[in-house]
Amino acid sequence: MKIAIVGTGYVGLVTATCLAEVVGLELICVDIDDKKIEKLKNGICPIYEPGLEDMLRRNIQKGRLVFTTSLDAVVKDVDVVFSAVGTPPDEDGSADLQYVLDVAKTIGENIEKVTKSTVPVGTANLVRAAIQEQLDKRGVNVNFDVASNPEFLKEGDAINDFMKPDRIVCGVDSPIAEELLTKIYKPFVLNGHPVIFTDIASAEMIKYTANAMLATRISFMNDIANLCEIVGADINMVRKGIGSDTRIGNKFLYAGVGYGGSCFPKDVKALIKTADSYGYSLDVLKSVEKVNDKQKRVLFDKLLKYYDGNLAGKRIALLGLAFKPNTDDMREAPALVLIDLLLKAGCTVLAYDPVAMEESYRRIGNKITYCNDVYETLQDADALLLVTEWTEFRVLDFNKVKSLMNKPVIFDGRNIYDAHEMRSHQIDYFSIGKKNL
Ligand SMILES: NC(=O)c1ccc[n+]([C@@H]2O[C@H](COP(=O)([O-])OP(=O)(O)OC[C@H]3O[C@@H](n4cnc5c(N)ncnc54)[C@H](O)[C@@H]3O)[C@@H](O)[C@H]2O)c1
Repeated sequence: MKIAIVGTGYVGLVTATCLAEVVGLELICVDIDDKKIEKLKNGICPIYEPGLEDMLRRNIQKGRLVFTTSLDAVVKDVDVVFSAVGTPPDEDGSADLQYVLDVAKTIGENIEKVTKSTVPVGTANLVRAAIQEQLDKRGVNVNFDVASNPEFLKEGDAINDFMKPDRIVCGVDSPIAEELLTKIYKPFVLNGHPVIFTDIASAEMIKYTANAMLATRISFMNDIANLCEIVGADINMVRKGIGSDTRIGNKFLYAGVGYGGSCFPKDVKALIKTADSYGYSLDVLKSVEKVNDKQKRVLFDKLLKYYDGNLAGKRIALLGLAFKPNTDDMREAPALVLIDLLLKAGCTVLAYDPVAMEESYRRIGNKITYCNDVYETLQDADALLLVTEWTEFRVLDFNKVKSLMNKPVIFDGRNIYDAHEMRSHQIDYFSIGKKNL
């Protein structure tokens, strides 16, 4: 079986590489970005994802992964096309489907077509119509199937998620599509986890609902954390107390500086828009978004209060730029909101991130100073803002931290440090959802 994967971003590249590795299939990866394709042809992974580059190179060497920019040529030659192109937010927050429909347009052959991108309910019908339109124009009559196979991988642990999925969801409306997807995914569910077949609309809704539920848990805990600070409770204790309730579970309950990344913000927005377009208001999700916007500036507000509203000329050290550890992805990263607020307040920002500095430079250039390590950012700093909980930030030499800083004060956006330890080092310490000691 020959498979084409269109879009070589986080989802497309991980899908292609894992399918090549496990199933030994022939994978043809297509992207319109010729620079990306050139890099990939040379075995260079354009994104940071642990373990991906090694696996990529291995499969290129074995001839199981090839890269191209011309979908037209590929389409004629494959049995299945997975479309994993981006679905960024449109100006009004709804999912922009132009890339998905562009791909559909290019497809006008007798092939099965699977959508992996996160797309609003009803998109499969649009894809089907776009393919049919092209076939009609050409006067050819061929059968094809459209399926929806949403992706649930987490950046930073994407390979593991793809190799050992909790479940695989496939929205199909034909036995051929079901048979084909069963065959492709069989090696990935030997652990007994299910391939869940649904109708197409439900598969499209499952993906959005999953992300919306996780975003809701995060915003809910952030809101509760802010109340904990006011009433003198500790969000970590509250988290443990509720997380041990099996009805609630302990995942996605950590308070912090708000969710970011390529999925939660845009999918929450798009789901709200879909509901609005049907005349239904998703009020819970509207609040989730509002709380998240507020939470992204929470460290800034604490810092502003600490310096009595005057931050002009302050030198601020920022640890972490990526929206979460183990990725270089900065889409909707809380760090970007913070940097903007700090610069507008007249601060100088010095930042360090183990992998996202190149990406940051691509986005905001020299607006901030990039440092080589944690301690370089702290030189003469008036405050340290911990934004992303990379492992290497967890244990610092706090004697050194204190001696390097102009004013030893830490604003911990991920609750990774211990307030008692900070006090023993005479470092002022502020975290999320806890009373200050
Ligand atoms: N990133 C994640 O963690 C994640 C997880 C689950 C689902 N998703 C969903 O998967 C989809 C892809 O996400 P991503 O993060 O991989 O996106 P991405 O932006 O990293 O990659 C998309 C790629 O598609 C390419 N592309 C766009 N139009 C094209 C066309 N017409 N032909 C060929 N290539 C084209 C782009 O050049 C880009 O390389 C989105 O719908 C997203 O919501 C993402």
